[in-house]
Amino acid sequence: MLRQIQESAMLRQLSQDQMKAALHSYHPSRYLATPKGRKMVKTLNTFKITILCGFITLLVLRGTLGPGGMFSSGAPQVTDLREQIIKSQRARVLAQVDEAIPDETTASKFVEEDEWDPSTPYKLGPKITDWDSQREAWNALNPGMNRTVDGKPKTLLVSGSQPGPCANPLGDFYHLKFLKNRIDYARLHGLEFFYNMATFEKEMSSFWAKLPLLRKMMLNHPGVEWIWWMDSDAIFTDMTFEMPMEKYAKSNLVVHGFHNLLFEQHRWIGLNTGSFLIRNCQWSLDLLDALAPFGPEGITRVEAGKLLTAKLVERPVFEADDQSALVYLILYGDPTWKAKTHIEWEFLLHGYWKYVVYNYEELMAKNHPGFGDERWPFVTHFVGCKPCKLGATPENDECFKQMERAFNFADNQVLEKYGYTHAALGSFKTQKIRRDSADPLGLKQDASSARRIDKQTIKSDPFTAKLELTEQDTEEVTSQLDITQERQRLNNLDLSE
Ligand SMILES: *[C@@H]1O[C@H](CO)[C@@H](O)[C@H](O)[C@H]1NC(C)=O
Repeated sequence: MLRQIQESAMLRQLSQDQMKAALHSYHPSRYLATPKGRKMVKTLNTFKITILCGFITLLVLRGTLGPGGMFSSGAPQVTDLREQIIKSQRARVLAQVDEAIPDETTASKFVEEDEWDPSTPYKLGPKITDWDSQREAWNALNPGMNRTVDGKPKTLLVSGSQPGPCANPLGDFYHLKFLKNRIDYARLHGLEFFYNMATFEKEMSSFWAKLPLLRKMMLNHPGVEWIWWMDSDAIFTDMTFEMPMEKYAKSNLVVHGFHNLLFEQHRWIGLNTGSFLIRNCQWSLDLLDALAPFGPEGITRVEAGKLLTAKLVERPVFEADDQSALVYLILYGDPTWKAKTHIEWEFLLHGYWKYVVYNYEELMAKNHPGFGDERWPFVTHFVGCKPCKLGATPENDECFKQMERAFNFADNQVLEKYGYTHAALGSFKTQKIRRDSADPLGLKQDASSARRIDKQTIKSDPFTAKLELTEQDTEEVTSQLDITQERQRLNNLDLSE
């Protein structure tokens, strides 16, 4: 026993001596002074940073992707994305370290891009000419990825707002509410959803930002058939209405407008690009390419604006916008733009807010969701409102007031399922419209007997029975409660707070 301990102590001593000897025979400072040594140190540092970043990436991914993280077998799409992130982050870290002095102009870019030469038409990216066959090949390789669970072609709802905070905090508040509204609509109708808050191309600012974004969406979601653009100031107000997609089998662009205003009168408001659907196909990429030269910020956009004002009826003098450019192409461009565009006027794919918001109460008394037209507007679009800009003007105050009403009008259709409603459209406050049940699924008791309404119940407890009311009943209850008056009162209370 004792001998064993002595032996191991001896061995330890021996190996320590050997190590010291080895260290003394090595002269790091001398070696590092050579060019080879310096290179070695640099490589070593790069390597250390790469390892560190790789490690951080792992931590972040494990944190973000939940338990199992890296090592669980997620959906193929997510696993692909994860691999892509890991690869691309490593490449970027190396590139950064290799760059001795960061160049101010390129420091924010990880890839070299050709600077746009303003004497040539602006391009969104490398010209693609065979997108339809590229998509088809991808879909053949990835069976089932171009269908929803119901077997329908996939639709991706795309929207966005500015990357920084609004000058007026109320603007951010309504962006959030409108975003919630999109999430609800997408969930109810099986749409995929992308919300962008990043700048993609510095030349394509303001209304033109949707061009590079739509192109990126098409190219990176080959399984998606339709992309549905919605401006940040538009809101779904018929949560049950569905687009009659079978109507658009031969079209590549569906946009709200009026034939006479557009084709006869050549008005710049003949159509509205606040909410439109565009097919993921070669034609659409070509359309984006045809629109892009009008858009670059600066002199190009200003000059293009002059052309559009000259050609389109009643267009005010201002820089080029995507809507005018589209109208111009449809009227004066290649005939294919007109041929494949469906001008939708049968329902409100875009509803001008001033024409619809003041009717909500009347519509609620008379109609029900599902029409999508003047009887129950599908989309309410706050054209002309500047919610992000600072400065309380009477116009902006009215915008915010009506945005709140539009949101609650829509949200009542969402809250219905959970047994709540907004007492008045102008009010944040909610009211319970049903008593909670111990049989929430209605499986225990005969559903038909539960649904029958007793007129007595209406009189004593109007909100319990509200759901089941017929039109006549609604009128009765409305007059009993004088809801309009109450609404007005709450309206004033809430919005003056
Ligand atoms: C999905 O892609 C395949 C292969 O291109 C095609 O045959 C099929 O019609 C597509 N389905 C839908 C719903 O778009």
